[in-house]
Parts: sequence; C-alpha cells; structure tokens
Amino acid sequence: MGISRRFFLFLSRAKGLRKVVSGWGFARRAARRFVAGETAAEAIAVARSLSGRGIMAILDHLGENVSTEAEATAAADAYIALIDAIAAAAPWQSVDGGPPHLAVKLTQLGLDLSPGIAEANLARMAARAKTLGVTVAVDMESSATVDQTLAVLNAVRAEYGNVSAVVQAYLRRNDADVEALCAAGYAIRLVKGAYQEPAEVAYPAKSDVDAAYVRQAQRMLRATQETGAYAQFGTQDPRMVAAAREYAAAHGIPNAAWEVQFLHGIRRDLQDSLAREGIRVRIYIPYGTEWYPYFMRRLAERPANVWFLLKNAMRA
Ligand code: FDA
Repeated sequence: MGISRRFFLFLSRAKGLRKVVSGWGFARRAARRFVAGETAAEAIAVARSLSGRGIMAILDHLGENVSTEAEATAAADAYIALIDAIAAAAPWQSVDGGPPHLAVKLTQLGLDLSPGIAEANLARMAARAKTLGVTVAVDMESSATVDQTLAVLNAVRAEYGNVSAVVQAYLRRNDADVEALCAAGYAIRLVKGAYQEPAEVAYPAKSDVDAAYVRQAQRMLRATQETGAYAQFGTQDPRMVAAAREYAAAHGIPNAAWEVQFLHGIRRDLQDSLAREGIRVRIYIPYGTEWYPYFMRRLAERPANVWFLLKNAMRA
C-alpha cells in the first residue's frame, strides 16, 4: 500500500481532525466534487438530472461510526425522510423504471453500539423503502464489521427482501462470501475495497485485488443465470468493466441482468459512453454534512485527487 494511501486512510479515521477539516471552506469546496450537496433535495436533483442521461441513481446520506443510539436513530430517520422525499418527487423515469435506490452504512445505524440497534434501524428503513419498491444497499466497511454486517443483512432480508449486499474483492475471505451470497440469490455490489486492512486480511498487491475482482465478477454473472440474482459492479476501472462485459457477452447474459456503478464525480465520460452503448449505469450519490471520512477515502484512492484539494487550498 502506498504511503499516500496509508496517510489518507489514517486521516479518514482521525475523529479529532474530522471536526477541524470539516470547518475549512476550501476542503468543503474540494469535497463538493464528490458530494452532491448537503441536503436531500440537492441529491434528488442530481438523481433527476442523471435520469435525463439514461443513468440510474443510488442515494447515500453520509455518516458512519456514530457513538450514541440517538445519532443512529436520527440517521435512520433522515433516510426515512429521504424515502418520503423520493416518493414526493415521483414520477421517476429511469432505465429500470423505478426511483433511486438507497445506500447506507451499518455503523451509521449503530453497529458499533450493538448489532441489534443497527438491525432495528435497517428494518425500519427497509419497511419504508418497500412501500416505494426500492432496495437498500448495505455498504461494506472495515473487515472487523463484515460478519456482523452479513448477519444483520440476512435477518432483515428474511423479513423484507429489499436489501442488497456489498462485498470487497481485496478481502481474502471474499470468494467464500460471494459464493454464499450468490447461492442465497442476493443482489450484490462488488467493489475492490476502500479501507486500510492488514495483509493477513486483504491482498496488499493491486494485481491480486484485480484478479479477485474479475474472478468474483464472473461468479456473480453466472449467478444471474442460476438464480436470477442481479449483479452490480462498483468500479471506475475500465479494465474491470471490460472484463464483466466480455464475460457477459461470451455467455449470453443480457444487459438487464447486471449494472456498473460509479461514484458521483468520477469518470463522467465513461458513465455516458457505457449508457449510450446500452450498459446499465447507476451513480452512487452521497450528500450531507458528514463528508469528511468519505472524502479522505477518495483522496486515498487517487493521488490526482490530492492535487485537486491543494488547488482549492491555494485559491482560498
Ligand atoms: P482503482 O482505484 O483500482 O483504479 C483503477 C483505475 O480506474 C484507475 O487507474 C483509473 O483508470 C480508474 N479510476 C479509478 N478512480 C478514478 C478517478 N477518481 N478518476 C478517474 N479514473 C479513476 N468501497 C468499500 O470498501 N465499501 C463500499 O461499500 C463501497 N461502495 C462503493 C460503491 C461504488 C458505486 C463505487 C464505485 C465504489 C465503492 N467503494 C466501496 C470504493 C471501492 O472499494 C474502491 O475504493 C474505488 O471504487 C476505487 O477502486 P476502482 O475499482 O474504481 O479502481
């Protein structure tokens, strides 16, 4: 892992810095490249403009690692208000015919306090989202949370059905997790993984992560034929997208069985060209005031993003 990646992932977890940096105007302006705004209305407006480009959306109310039950309840309440705002903004015309989906982190819903609190909050969200026919994707966080996250997901899915999983190709355990989730017919988003993990837990070499991604993407595409599960590839990497496309084409897997997901603000050219070619594209749209750790992870991914921050600092 490069020094700059390690450094920004360290910063992403530094709670003291979170307060300080969140107050810097130039950091807030730079974060705006990746964050749709502070309010649900701004995020909904971005989702709306995407549907005009033939692209779907998934909305994320930023937040993670809350430390009180009241904060966890408030986070779920904010999502419920978001679901109501999405309903009020109907009709939605999109490639899949439905409104934007939701993404949430279980540590935002109280996982660090107790899995029961996170489960109750996720269940509340799933119940409300179901009235709108949308799915709640549970983002995957650090490796220490994977078992608890999957247990909460299984419990809420058994009751409501409309939750989907995220798995991280960099984890050594991920082939087994993908296998189990595919067998259960889960809709899965496959990502490379964005947290700092020890070598015993995650592949340190990018080439191993990429090879795992391609292997697991192929497994998920096979599952679309075996169980009708829907496959989602969360990546900005054109090579990963090409690998999924080639495999789908070679095995007669229709475009309606899978999609590519990008983070808001990244590779708009590729988003548009894929959508024009008939590949389903969905954009992950984060919004809210708690952008600090999300922004630090984006800086960790790509040194060019750091220059972007510095340019804003010089203009301040
Ligand atoms: P990677 O970072 O390996 O880059 C490979 C290539 O992709 C680059 O060489 C470049 O060509 C292109 N590229 C990547 N980033 C770019 C940029 N900013 N600008 C231009 N080109 C770029 N992680 C996690 O741990 N849990 C989660 O729940 C999620 N959820 C999630 C949802 C969605 C929709 C996405 C796209 C990503 C996530 N992630 C995530 C983040 C993910 O784990 C990963 O850190 C990033 O997607 C970066 O990895 P890539 O696959 O994009 O390629």
